Amino acid sequence: MSLKIASFFFILVISSLFRASFQAFLVPITKDSATQKYTLPVYLRTPPRPVNLLLDLGATFTLIDCSRNYASSTYHSIPCGSSLCSSLGPHSCSVCSGLAGPGCSNNSCALRFTNSGARKSTVMGEALMDSMSLPVTNGRNPGPLGTIHDFIFSCTKGPFRRAHVKGASGSAGFGRSKLSVPAQVSKSFHEKLLFALCLSGSPAAPGVGFFGSPGPYYFYPEIDLSNRLTYTPLLSPQLSDEYFVGLTSIKVNGKVVRLTQHKGVLPAKISTMTPYTTLRSEIFKALAEAFVKESAAANLKSIEPVKPFGVCYDADDVADTPAGPAVPTVDLVMQNEGAAWRIFGSNSMVRIFKGGVDAWCLGFLDGGNHPKSPPVVIGGHQMEDNLLLFDVGSKRVGFSGSVLVHGTMCANFNFTKEETLL
Ligand SMILES: *[C@@H]1O[C@H](CO)[C@@H](O)[C@H](O)[C@H]1NC(C)=O
Ligand SMILES: *[C@@H]1O[C@H](CO)[C@@H](O)[C@H](O)[C@H]1NC(C)=O
Repeated sequence: MSLKIASFFFILVISSLFRASFQAFLVPITKDSATQKYTLPVYLRTPPRPVNLLLDLGATFTLIDCSRNYASSTYHSIPCGSSLCSSLGPHSCSVCSGLAGPGCSNNSCALRFTNSGARKSTVMGEALMDSMSLPVTNGRNPGPLGTIHDFIFSCTKGPFRRAHVKGASGSAGFGRSKLSVPAQVSKSFHEKLLFALCLSGSPAAPGVGFFGSPGPYYFYPEIDLSNRLTYTPLLSPQLSDEYFVGLTSIKVNGKVVRLTQHKGVLPAKISTMTPYTTLRSEIFKALAEAFVKESAAANLKSIEPVKPFGVCYDADDVADTPAGPAVPTVDLVMQNEGAAWRIFGSNSMVRIFKGGVDAWCLGFLDGGNHPKSPPVVIGGHQMEDNLLLFDVGSKRVGFSGSVLVHGTMCANFNFTKEETLL
């Protein structure tokens, strides 16, 4: 008898271990060419309905426009004054004069959503809990949908115009908070709080995001990018759910760019809401000068720049390499001794066709001298075709450098569904 009970528990443990190995999730991530931002589909409600959301890496939680017939058999609002409401952080109590329903009730917990882009905007919405589903993955293919019960988000009745991304009906918050999409997914499956992004620059071929698993992450042809990561500490500034790493220097062709006003570690924010890496004026000027000098040494002469860029070259003068146009490398040297994020032409340069000009321009921008903005904001163009692992639980960020150098690209994930994964 006791043997039977023991073997029953043995099977239970084994089957839960087996299930646990499949509790990683993924999302395809698509670039929107008009705004240079990224969107991802999640399934919300019961029965599950797809909604397309803007990827906001630094936002605390998720905001969804539920003004159009939000019907679901599983949603709840959260009473204002409940302990759950207090645990959500800054909130207020909703008052709604419209038709009662999801997103419109009195005395429910309401959250104030602020995006993490350079231009901040704030939207108020009622906190709702509902089922959210995402495809599970083994790191090779997507499988059937797995459900996160009681996913908490803010539901706004006003149409979602802030993002100006066509077809998006909200923002997915990926920030360093317990209400972010990665945090709620990990918590729901008792997985470590980590996620990875591999953004594709092509609107026609999506990149991918993984939740809850440190790998493997396979890309055609059979390349596991989780093996190609170097780590640097994640800085944890208070009052911000955004992701920061520390830079000890910036190099061009391996030579340190001299900065006079900045000493010590430069905080660099990683942002999917900023299309191009933006630097404080002094840093930008020093980088641009070093870049022009190194290019000139390779017989590359700059031309009249095309706004908003500050350094451009005639495309006919620039040779091609497997990692993009042949230009000097830019290294972001990380706090972790010697670890450098090397940026090749495909990530440092932007192709511009304008008024008969065909140019490659340095895709870094002069951000002026706003003391409130971080000295360095690493933008989407520099993240594309790089794998970034945000290991929030262990307070570190893993980066692969250009995956083109490893013989693959972020659009090479195989999205063919494997029905038998669960
Ligand atoms: C909320 O309260 C106001 C005033 O007390 C009332 O007019 C309104 O109908 C209520 N809204 C809902 C959704 O119950
Ligand atoms: C993509 O995955 C499917 C399903 O596992 C497989 O049959 C197919 O060969 C894969 N395609 C490539 C290009 O690897």
